[in-house]
Amino acid sequence: MLERPRRNRRTAGIRDLVRETHLGPEHLVLPLFVQEGQGVATPIASMPGHARLTVDLLVEKAHEAFALGVPAVEVFPRIPEEQKDARGTESTNAAGLVPRAVRALKQALPELTVITDVALDPYSSDGHDGVVIDGRIDNDASLPILAAMAVAQARAGADVVAPSDMMDGRIAAVRRALDEAGFSDVLVCSYCCKYASAFYGPFRDALDSAPRAGDKKTYQLDPANYRECAREVALDEAEGADWLMVKPGLPYADVIRFVRDTSSLPVAVYHVSGEYAMLKAAAERGWLDYDRCLLESLMCLRRAGADIIFTYGALEAAKLLRSRR
Ligand code: PBG
Repeated sequence: MLERPRRNRRTAGIRDLVRETHLGPEHLVLPLFVQEGQGVATPIASMPGHARLTVDLLVEKAHEAFALGVPAVEVFPRIPEEQKDARGTESTNAAGLVPRAVRALKQALPELTVITDVALDPYSSDGHDGVVIDGRIDNDASLPILAAMAVAQARAGADVVAPSDMMDGRIAAVRRALDEAGFSDVLVCSYCCKYASAFYGPFRDALDSAPRAGDKKTYQLDPANYRECAREVALDEAEGADWLMVKPGLPYADVIRFVRDTSSLPVAVYHVSGEYAMLKAAAERGWLDYDRCLLESLMCLRRAGADIIFTYGALEAAKLLRSRR
């Protein structure tokens, strides 16, 4: 007798019944870029559909996302050049752009989960995620600054702080500082397996945050490496991370599966700016169907083992997923 696996694909109803993986707006986080000013949206050329938004417009965008069922946003600041310095001092300013954005978001949408990025690159005149001293990224000198940044964000109302800097020991430093400041309820999402990737290009355009000298290879993971993730996962778990993130997304699906199978913690993935830009560029040329490729990409990230997906396509995906119900 011929084996007939196609019977399980015969009708849409049967396919719905046997589908193994589910993708909904509730799995998505929308990253947003914030800038100073009022009523201004500055388009980002390499990220069609995304713009740097002033706080008032950021709140409007978050409203739209939340109404579509997207439960969370992450906020990244475009810091004016004159506010950047070698120590990234502006990053710990309680009245800075990110704390103001967080307060406005939580005031307008108390139920929205607000996530903030912990890293020095948008604030640093060197464009690195840690402090540069004598031409080197100084791990240990970076930790107290990163911890103070996280506390400033928590004080403004951030629900989740997300260290993306890849300094050693930063999860423990951030967790301890949050607890000491009375923010034991604030989650830490560790960018646990974050690779030194060229797919971050459009993001660095958006924030003007590219390293002024050198690259990030002394702190972000080598794209050739897989076993090394085991060490990062073990350390971040021991240091108190609540979520573990893999970044970028699709090219690292094997890493997502590894983290999913290694840890019992929730796994997040960042479908990064370059992955979004590739889909947009191909769609603009009429070479790919953006909507279908976006949903397929996100479904594949879920299948690989991601619980939570950070994606610039969150609004579009949420609309598409709702209209299909
Ligand atoms: C930096 C940071 C980066 C991204 C998020 N946080 C870029 C980098 O490491 O240079 C990239 C996100 C994206 O490409 O969408 N701390």
